[in-house]
Amino acid sequence: NDRGEVKVRDSLDDLSTELADYIAELSEASVKERGVFAIALSGGSLVSLMGKLCEAPYNKTVDWSKWYIFWADERVVAKNHTDSNYKLAKDGLLSKVPIVPSHVHSINDSVSAEEAADEYEFAIRQLVKTRVVSVSDNSDCPKFDLILLGMGPDGHVASLFPNHSVLNEKDEWVTFITDSPKPPPERITFTLPVINSASNVAVVVTGDSKAEAVHLAIDDVGPDCPSLPARMVQPNGKLVWFLDKPAASKLDHP
Ligand code: 6PG
Repeated sequence: NDRGEVKVRDSLDDLSTELADYIAELSEASVKERGVFAIALSGGSLVSLMGKLCEAPYNKTVDWSKWYIFWADERVVAKNHTDSNYKLAKDGLLSKVPIVPSHVHSINDSVSAEEAADEYEFAIRQLVKTRVVSVSDNSDCPKFDLILLGMGPDGHVASLFPNHSVLNEKDEWVTFITDSPKPPPERITFTLPVINSASNVAVVVTGDSKAEAVHLAIDDVGPDCPSLPARMVQPNGKLVWFLDKPAASKLDHP
């Protein structure tokens, strides 16, 4: 349907192989086409599901030196804090493969949330100028080669939570919130215009606690459909859902 391609796998092992294949293929295609791969990560269970990228064959076949890494969302905590999405990715992935340190665009942890969001947007603007990050065909928005998202049981993606005013943000690329219902409260997040300008967006969701939100995000639920953040992910590029069986269990056509 127009909600993208839906991949359902029986086990977490199969799902993580599928995800590693997908990321490796996009990386190869992007490096071939533009010489670089600009990828944005999220927090949560996503990073451990990407773990196979550190193993054979991917650890040898992926051209890590061409990766430029960003975060779709980050918690406003120190980089060595257990809640840090940067730390999660560094420990689980980035420290295990030959990434170029200067290509890792983490969010400043020594300024306020507002300053960190502004700084991050400015940094992305510079990288759009030099085309490390492409530019959208329809606006001046950055066009990431891939944005990887998780989804919460409430349907949030990145740090875009249901009924939050930042869902209406049209101008800013990166913004901050101080009232996240999921702790910690202060977060930096890509806005919907940036997510929806990406060439590829993958939403990776596991577990039965998310089955209802998966149904509301993907199925044709009619005009009463709530404005679920995950349903507002409608990229110009390609959208793919990576689901395990429990997460897919309430889909109309599982
Ligand atoms: C965060 C963010 C987001 C995350 C989703 C899903 O936690 O920092 O909100 O980046 O991907 O919350 O997280 P789980 O996969 O752990 O449920």
